[in-house]
Amino acid sequence: MAEIGKPINRIDGRLKVTGAAKYAAEFNQPQMAYAFPVRSTIANGTIRKLDTSQAQASPGVISILTHENAPRLKPFSREQLRTLGTNVGEDLVVLQDIRVHYFGQFIACVVAETYEQARHAANLVEAEYAEEKPKIDLSEELPNGLRPEKKAYGPEAQLNTGKAAEPLRAAPIKFEQIYKTSYETHNPMEPNGSVAWWDGADKLTIQESTQGVLTERAVIAYYFDLKPENVRVVSRFTGGGFGNKAFPWTSNVLAVMAAKVAKRPVKLVITRQMMQTNVGRRGETVQTVALGAEKNGRLTVMRHHNETYAKLTNFFEPSGETSEILYNTPLREITYKVAELNLGAPTYMRAPGESPGSFAAESAMDELAYELKIDPINLRVMNHTTVHPQKKLPFSSEYLKECYRTGAAKFGWARRKIEPRQVRNGRYLVGYGMAAATYPGERGTATVRIQMTADGGVKVLCATHDIGTGTYTILAQTAADALGVPIGKITVEIGDSNLPPAPLSSGARTAATVGPAVQAAGEALRRDLLHLTLAGKQSKLNGKKADEIDFSNAKFFVRSDASKTDSYIDIMRRNDRTMMESCMTTVPDAAKSPSESCLIAPTSREENKNEEKYAFHSFGAQFAEVWVDEDLGTIRVKRITSVQDVGRIMNEKTARSQIIGGVIFGIGSALMEESQFDKRWANPVTRTLADYHVPVNLDVTEIDVHFIGKPDPRISPIGARGVGEIGIVGISAAIANAVFNATGKRLRDLPFTPDKLI
Ligand code: MOS
Repeated sequence: MAEIGKPINRIDGRLKVTGAAKYAAEFNQPQMAYAFPVRSTIANGTIRKLDTSQAQASPGVISILTHENAPRLKPFSREQLRTLGTNVGEDLVVLQDIRVHYFGQFIACVVAETYEQARHAANLVEAEYAEEKPKIDLSEELPNGLRPEKKAYGPEAQLNTGKAAEPLRAAPIKFEQIYKTSYETHNPMEPNGSVAWWDGADKLTIQESTQGVLTERAVIAYYFDLKPENVRVVSRFTGGGFGNKAFPWTSNVLAVMAAKVAKRPVKLVITRQMMQTNVGRRGETVQTVALGAEKNGRLTVMRHHNETYAKLTNFFEPSGETSEILYNTPLREITYKVAELNLGAPTYMRAPGESPGSFAAESAMDELAYELKIDPINLRVMNHTTVHPQKKLPFSSEYLKECYRTGAAKFGWARRKIEPRQVRNGRYLVGYGMAAATYPGERGTATVRIQMTADGGVKVLCATHDIGTGTYTILAQTAADALGVPIGKITVEIGDSNLPPAPLSSGARTAATVGPAVQAAGEALRRDLLHLTLAGKQSKLNGKKADEIDFSNAKFFVRSDASKTDSYIDIMRRNDRTMMESCMTTVPDAAKSPSESCLIAPTSREENKNEEKYAFHSFGAQFAEVWVDEDLGTIRVKRITSVQDVGRIMNEKTARSQIIGGVIFGIGSALMEESQFDKRWANPVTRTLADYHVPVNLDVTEIDVHFIGKPDPRISPIGARGVGEIGIVGISAAIANAVFNATGKRLRDLPFTPDKLI
């Protein structure tokens, strides 16, 4: 009967392929106007003068917002936002002053009757600047960089600073190399966009494309000084969000501002070019990895120094993450240095930290293995840890060695030659490489309301999101199992800030966070129904004990006598109920109490204590086969085998799709993705998908995904950890290691474009 785990199709799939699923930009309102932002053409300086006269006279223009006339927004500090339980993409309140921090910053916004009129008029706005030289070169600015004490979400950024030097000196085997990763830009199919409309002066609705309806509600309410409950953010479908829709950006704020000034609904959807400048990116990194080992391969010390940029945010790419988790070594030193550049803020991008960090760390492990003539898997197994090295807590559930074993068998690792340049296929050199992967098992607090109506229909309600991952489907599967009703009876309503609260859909936390709340609410509702039937005078189950009763297909029945049944519909009819509902909160933070009508799930406080006893992490092993054309410098990824230990699999099909998507993202990082900036003006020269390359069908061949599938009973009764981020981790290292195995050439500078190989 169990629905959880089945590889069923997305329940929203039909809506998506028929176009019935509406995305933010597709919403229209009566009297709607269009906004188009004006971008700065300098990266550093101040605005001297904005001449809007020509734009003002352009057809269809309703108003032009500038720093001189825009509504004043409430300034903030990150501390204030944190107390509101929220965050913003960048510390920049749009159109409030004359300062320009990066190329493409929004310095004005035209509102007009049509999109074309707004866009045309935006081109007519003339700006004069007092320009200063932009800081754009990471290597030039790093000497003045800072060593931040903390990472954006709290933990220490500098670990054992300086302590690795001595053990490295003493190590019989030493290895040190520098690895570089590139700036990367989010390219979901759907660019960020909002349709905003006010109802009077203090009520607001936004149709949004976001990973966090409540985050956005909190930020907008703060800026515009509104009660949060008077702001409604709706995002039923999100056309991909890989971190760039986690927090509100200035474009979201501009849409709301424009609607306020125009006193009309306003649509603002940013362009593909603006995706390059205004909604965050992954920062470039320079990582120095040093390893010390015994001659047999036992690590004695690891040092991972990370350099990157930050601007208008306390977030920076935390590329030391995997080095905090993987491998057992008596000492690890992990440090960061961060320079400020005149670029828009860096932000989350799929597996922030782990993605570039695993490239460096897992390449280094491969280099060490080759130096010692040890099989790379054996080196990893020899240095395996079952305990979180920093927290000194056992992992809640960990099957990394099984990932290596399964991966090696499925991939055919035994055929790999230790020495490079041994395998040819026509003009190609063939190589095998592998890397380990890890990603935290995040879980947060969520509240879910479940309603059953007299016709037996079930609604699952929660302010969570389906950012393309399959949330709709797995929540329906979970509710079906908890209630014992067919999945076709279940409707899932999510993506609306008016629904019971759930966190941001980021950090691969949604399945592990919302799933248990659905289960708890479903079980509570089923208990209420059971109570009614056992107590019901006309019920065939009257007087039985709860433990004698089973349930399936929206009915209770006596386990020892299946002819004695009572259906949920009959129970509700006999009891004159047109609707029954339950509401449950799971894993509550001590500080937060759930809304009055909702209960804390009975098991939740206990589950919460597991946080103190265990470290929650997912693990995986990535294997790559590459074919290299040495004459042309081209690398073809022929196949990838990805084995993941992510706890219980909620839906074999959507989970597999997540891993495949992550792997493709990783192929992009490895071979092509790179935002480049003109060093004179700090403007991106890779402005569209024509110059910022992402993998297309021909770049993606066979991706063979396997799951260990062992539930993690400590993260929740469901046992699922997230699956959204880990697929990308280790892919670029596995490819780099395969390229070395093919050619004998070690590439340490992503992406591996043909010039790097020749
Ligand atoms: Mo994920 S990079 O936290 O959207």
